[in-house]
Formats: sequence, structure tokens, C-alpha cells
Amino acid sequence: MPIASNDLDAALARLRAGGLVAFPTETVYGLGADARRADAVARVFAIKGRPSRNPLIVHVADAAMARACAATWPEAAQRLADACWPGPLSIVVPRAAVIPDLVAAGGPSVALRCPDHPLTLELLRRFGGPLVGPSANPSGGVSPTRAEHVRDAFDPADVLVLDGGPCRGGIESTVIDCTGAAPRVLRPGLVTPQRLGAILGGPVAVGALPAADGSALPSPGLLDRHYAPNARARLFTTRTWAEALAQRPPDRGAVVLAREPYAVPEGVRLVLMPRDAAGYASALYAALRDADRADPGLMLIEAPPESGPDADLWAAIADRLTRACTP
Ligand code: TXA
Ligand code: MG
Repeated sequence: MPIASNDLDAALARLRAGGLVAFPTETVYGLGADARRADAVARVFAIKGRPSRNPLIVHVADAAMARACAATWPEAAQRLADACWPGPLSIVVPRAAVIPDLVAAGGPSVALRCPDHPLTLELLRRFGGPLVGPSANPSGGVSPTRAEHVRDAFDPADVLVLDGGPCRGGIESTVIDCTGAAPRVLRPGLVTPQRLGAILGGPVAVGALPAADGSALPSPGLLDRHYAPNARARLFTTRTWAEALAQRPPDRGAVVLAREPYAVPEGVRLVLMPRDAAGYASALYAALRDADRADPGLMLIEAPPESGPDADLWAAIADRLTRACTP
């Protein structure tokens, strides 16, 4: 998709004025603002309706810009950045003072990521500083994978949207915590634990540790309900299919997202999803949004396979679907 340089100029002017610019990445669209300015970051929290205890990912042009945002830069972080950036990996490290408390929800760390999209890399280089970039959707909802998803959600007066076409990855970056003795995956994503283990030379634990004092969430993206469509949604398998289908409200339609052509009764729409994990991830959020548009009484989503090829990537998809289906 060709981008007029005046789009970038307008985006840079908006950012320098403390305003908001949505940018494309290889995962989902991000809602950008100057990560060094608390006033700009506060606008991001406000417009998303995001709880202030949920920290933001900071986007950088390269590892040098990342180091400037970090109080210390562990060797594991450098190895991960060398191997995975630009790419869908957010690396949590101790936070430098240039990053305001608000970005980190008051915590001692910051999540850093260099996104793999030429337009956004150019934006970051020309801006010359870090940009926060939560997914560009109202908090809790489905992340945007196309520019029009962002335009549907926000007023152009508030958010300038850089259109970089559809996002190919489709689910959010893997978040890995490198602040402790051993790196830990806090949010599964497109970079699998297996790959991370190969880079770091040993198995990598998955799952957030509960906070020592039981207060703040270690990674609040791990909140139970998240990535959720408006419709009531539930997962099914071949075994639970009949029972799941019977739960649709009698007077309203239902939508089924499945990788197999399930036979559906009248009033139920079947959406055939890609069978491969990468294709599925890429298509998922647009499919959830499309399915929502008809305001169905129920959304039935076929549960991902638990084993077989790409089990790690399917597990990241299952993580999103489980949260999307949490009432
Ligand atoms: O792929 C992505 O990561 C996208 C694109 C736009 O880059 N961004 C994204 O941001 O998904 P957001 O805000 O929707 O999710 C950020 C996740 C949350 O789960 C948050 O809790 C976690 O990263 N996070 C951010 N800073 C953290 C920190 N310092 N420690 C632990 N988790 C952190
Ligand atoms: Mg999000």
C-alpha cells in the first residue's frame, strides 16, 4: 500500500503536539503517542477507557532506542532483540526515568518492542523517540487488524490513522519478562516458547507469576475477559457441538466460526476459518468483527487443536479465544 509522505508528515506533527496516531504493525494496529510525555499517554488511556493499572507497550525503532528506555538492559534482552526484532516480541526490562510512571502503571519495568512494518519503522525513525502502542481498540474489545477497524472506533479529530493495509500476523506480540533471574512468557503470541528457548539456550517458563503482595497484576493483558466480541461467544468441539448449538436464543441468529464445514440449521451462518495456525491468527479478529456486525444471539467458535503441528501457535490463539469467550 503506497503511503503519501504527507501522511507521515501529518502523523509526525500530530505526535509532536502530544496527539494520537494509530499505526500498522505486523500484529495489530497500535494507538501511538509520545511515550516520554505523560500528557500524551494520559490521552491514550482516556480514549481507550483503559484501566490505569494496565501498562502500555513502548515501540522503538531499534535496540539502541530500546536501551535508552531501559534502566538496565539484560543480556537475554539483547539476544532476543537480535534474533526477533523487528518482530512480534515485547521484552519487559527495568524502566528508565524517561518513561513516565503512567506508561508502566507505576511499576518498575517497561515492555519494549520493535514492530516489523516499514511504515511504522519509518515513523519511529523520523519521530526519533519511543511511542506507546496499545492495540487501537476500546479496552477489552477485539484488536484492530485493518485501518477501517480503527476508523470505526475513534473520531478522526482524536486519532489520525496511518493505513498500512491488513496486519499479516493477526494476534498480539508475545510478551516476555526479562527482569527476573529467568525469562518468562507473560502473554503467548506469534513468537513461540520453543523459539524463545532456542534463542536463550534453555526452556522458557510460560505464565505470569502472581504478584508477591497479591495487588497489581503482573501482566493485566492476562485479565480473564479480553479480546471480546459484543455477542455472547462460546467455544465448542465436535463432542459439544450439538449441545452448544442448542444454546442459541430461539428468535435470533447465530454465527459459527469453524475450520470444518459443520452442517448448520437455518438462521445460523457458518464462517469457514483457515486450517493452518498462521492463517487462522491472521484472519481471526476480522472474522470476529464481521460476525459481530449481524448482532447474533450467539457466536460459536470451534476450539483450536491442542496437539499436532503448530501446537504452540494454536495455544496462543486458544489464549485469545478463551478470553474472548469469558462471560
Ligand atoms: O502486538 C502488540 O503487542 C500490539 C501492537 C500494537 O504492538 N500491542 C498490544 O498492546 O497488544 P496492548 O496494550 O493491547 O497489550 C499490552 C500487553 C498487556 O498484556 C500488558 O499488560 C502487557 O503488555 N505489558 C505492558 N507493559 C508491561 C510490563 N511492564 N510488564 C508486564 N506486562 C506488560
Ligand atoms: Mg490490547
